[in-house]
Amino acid sequence: MTGRKPGRHNRAFSTKRDLRIDAVDLTGREDCRVLDCFAGTGALWRAVRQERPLIDVDHIEIDRAVAVGGAMIGDNLNVMAGLDLDVYDVIDLDAFGWPDKQLALIAERRAGRLPVVTATCCGQLYTAVPRLVTDAVGIPRSWPPGVVSRGHEQWWDQFLASLGWGRSIRWRASRGGGWARYEVLVPPGADAGSPRGADRRGRAPSPSGSPPTA
Ligand SMILES: C[S@@+](CC[C@H](N)C(=O)[O-])C[C@H]1O[C@@H](n2cnc3c(N)ncnc32)[C@H](O)[C@@H]1O
Repeated sequence: MTGRKPGRHNRAFSTKRDLRIDAVDLTGREDCRVLDCFAGTGALWRAVRQERPLIDVDHIEIDRAVAVGGAMIGDNLNVMAGLDLDVYDVIDLDAFGWPDKQLALIAERRAGRLPVVTATCCGQLYTAVPRLVTDAVGIPRSWPPGVVSRGHEQWWDQFLASLGWGRSIRWRASRGGGWARYEVLVPPGADAGSPRGADRRGRAPSPSGSPPTA
């Protein structure tokens, strides 16, 4: 935890930090390389580095006004297109909404050797599920959006599995009409060990007041 009260972007901060420590440990490399695609001020990975000091983190942030020093500035989809993604052990998608396009890009570029991914996916109960997700899981376009929205978690699981991430270390929060999933996507063949961030079977511990926003 940082000394400051977490801002709106980093509520559930300690849960997110612990999941990222799990992600680093999953790689089996103390000096693993991380690509932080929604970097903000970099607070989250600074907190991880306090416990895993050998990690090497590259940051991408779209908003120059908040960006951590040294970040690559731009839309992460554009920036990732120009990077060699093979060098990263962990890719972090701490998104405001659905990081579906980023996941699809990573899965395509890293097919056969998926990285560990840390992801935040969040929304309101009745906001639309992205077309990329519904198409990937075979939901007919004729289905009413409200019906599709109600199954958002199931569709997200199926979407992740369709890309190759069939398992995750997961923590879910919900409050009011909003929800958030914080998770580590485990590549095939990796041993999830004993994660500290969440129950490895994906059961959601009590959110203990953490709001369902990124
Ligand atoms: C939930 S916050 C991440 C907070 C961050 N993990 C930290 O430690 O401060 C999401 C951040 O992603 C940035 N962002 C949103 N869309 C983006 C995009 N397409 N490419 C890069 N950054 C983006 C936002 O400006 C915001 O700073």
